[in-house]
Parts: sequence; structure tokens; C-alpha cells
Amino acid sequence: MPDPTPFRLFVGIAVADDLRDALERHLAATVGERLPGRAVPPANWHLTLRFLGATDAERHPRMVDELARIEAPPFDLTFTGLGGFPRAGRAKVLWIGVGAGADELRALAASIEAAAVRAGFAAEPKPFSPHLTLSRLRPSADLRPLVDAAAPFGGRMRVDAFTLFRSHLGGAAPRYEPLERFPLARSVRLDSADSVDSV
Ligand code: 2AM
Repeated sequence: MPDPTPFRLFVGIAVADDLRDALERHLAATVGERLPGRAVPPANWHLTLRFLGATDAERHPRMVDELARIEAPPFDLTFTGLGGFPRAGRAKVLWIGVGAGADELRALAASIEAAAVRAGFAAEPKPFSPHLTLSRLRPSADLRPLVDAAAPFGGRMRVDAFTLFRSHLGGAAPRYEPLERFPLARSVRLDSADSVDSV
């Protein structure tokens, strides 16, 4: 019998192992071993492209089908400095920003947003803002000294896929289970001599 409990889903980009190690070392050197607030464990680091939330057994396969139709090329990501949402002076979220690749990330997020709406999800009213969440703060805190002092991170990562994750809550930290990986590919252009029509 199918599981009637809706899955808590989101679409994101998993952080490559070598980048994770480099970012951990960078943060230890520039911020210290402990981030303020509730730090996201490095094993959970990801870039969220679209939070879907509770997803019933009907919309889940529709979303998978829509995601599988997305065509986008692979790209490189670089990172910038740290920042805070809604702002560094009163931060609820400490994040690291994206440098190169931010436009490609926005384009990909827009395709995924359109896919989500076609699959039956309500449109996301908040604009997409490329970032990687490092910690969450309750109550909010003034992180300006930390953000201003942190050197930019020089890491680089190839983005060659995005992933549909299931989030399992209930433990000390959520567990993110990758359900489906959607590779990005340069579109293969057949010239007319190779095209199926000409055979
Ligand atoms: P974040 O990367 O901006 O922090 C998985 O739970 C991811 O989905 C989180 O990392 C978070 O993105 C985002 N998320 C979680 N709960 C959310 C909510 N209620 N609304 C929007 N996004 C959410």
C-alpha cells in the first residue's frame, strides 16, 4: 500500500565533498570552530532551489516528471562572503553567498518554479536569492562584526545536477534523503545531416 503521509520535499543542489571540506576549513579559519546559532551540519549543506513542503502521492510523481523535462547546461559556482537574512544586523539565517553561477542558478530556479506550478504547487511569492544556509538563529542576532570580518571563500564547484530531496524532521538535525538526481546536460545539437528526419 502506498505511504499516505505526505513527503516533505525540496529541490536543491548537493554540495560536492571537496567543496564541503574546503568550506569547513575556511569557516574554521575565519569564523572559528563554532558558528553562532544552530549550525547546519556540513553533511546537510545544500543550495535550495525550491522548497515544496508537504507533497501528496499525486503531486510527487507529477513533479518528478516535470523536473525530468528541464533542460539546462552544467555550470560553475563560486562563493562570496557571509551575510544574514533578513539582514546581517538582525539575522535569523547566516549564509554564504554565490558569486559566479548566480545567474545560472536563478535561471534554473525559475525553470523549477515553473515546473512546480505545472505540477500543482502554489506559486512561490518570494523571489529566489542564491545562498547556502550555514546556521539559523533564534532569536535573531547582530552578525555584522562576524560578516564584516569574514574573508570571502575562494571555493569553486561544478554544478552538473540538481536533486529532489526528502526532508526527515524529528532528530537533532533534519536528514535529507536524495530521492532523484536530475543531470544537467549541454544540449546536443544534431546538424541536419545527422538528424533523424534526414535518415
Ligand atoms: P534554505 O536553504 O534557504 O535555508 C530544506 O528544508 C530547505 O528548504 C531549507 O534549507 C530551507 O532553505 C528551505 N525551507 C525549509 N522550510 C521552508 C519553508 N517553510 N519555506 C520556505 N523554504 C523552506
